[in-house]
Amino acid sequence: MTSPALIDQWQEALAPQTPKDILRFAHEQFDNIVISFSGAEDVVLIDLAKKVSKHVQVFTLDTGRLHADTYRFIDQVRKHYNLDLDILSPDQAKLEALVRTKGLFSFYEDDHKECCGVRKVDSLKRKLQTVDAWITGQRKDQSPSTRASVATVELDTVFGSPDKPLVKFNPLANWTSQQVWEYIRMFDVPFNPLHERGFISIGCEPCTRPVLPGQHEREGRWWWEEATQKECGLHST
Ligand code: ADX
Ligand code: SF4
Repeated sequence: MTSPALIDQWQEALAPQTPKDILRFAHEQFDNIVISFSGAEDVVLIDLAKKVSKHVQVFTLDTGRLHADTYRFIDQVRKHYNLDLDILSPDQAKLEALVRTKGLFSFYEDDHKECCGVRKVDSLKRKLQTVDAWITGQRKDQSPSTRASVATVELDTVFGSPDKPLVKFNPLANWTSQQVWEYIRMFDVPFNPLHERGFISIGCEPCTRPVLPGQHEREGRWWWEEATQKECGLHST
């Protein structure tokens, strides 16, 4: 049984380790563990996990609003790594109610929380109820405002509970974007072609845009909102 004290010990031991060693450890500790894949450069998690475990499970939250290139890329990754990829769709009734009352672009007028809630967070909750641990591609350098202190491993108190603890691994927490891209190039890892067109951080099509030289990657996400609001509920703490 995972306790906060044990997670603290793991954090201390794992933080200096490489993403590959962290992924090996995570898969040794948990059989029922899953990688959360967004269709962006977090593909490196899948590539690394495949090198250390024979039982790699992956899911993607299909919001219905990803770029066509991202859908193609997700399918390319599914075939390339021979994944039994779990692609989750939003709850039909909730989604239809949202777009009936607020239309297809409510996030530009309200904020993105309601749409992200229906299209991402609800599906994530559903998935996480079925596992003991999950793995994300979060990194500290992705957002100085919201991710500067991302842990390598933590108890997920948002989607888990004392009755059903859920462990969250962020093996790339201490890697920089440059390290991720060096890995992608060195090992010929397939990547989303949007990255060749100025996109760094990639989410849904209406809420993501390319950034200019010198702009931070997070500026391309929900650009009409404040930097401190640029989280969609997948990683709230
Ligand atoms: S987000 O919360 O702002 O959308 P971001 O795009 O930075 O997250 O991605 C960080 C990590 O969150 C990804 O590496 C992945 O683990 C998870 N994630 C984000 N979007 C998705 C998605 N659509 N499906 C599955 N996992 C996702
Ligand atoms: Fe909706 Fe935009 Fe959130 Fe995607 S990123 S779920 S389109 S608000």
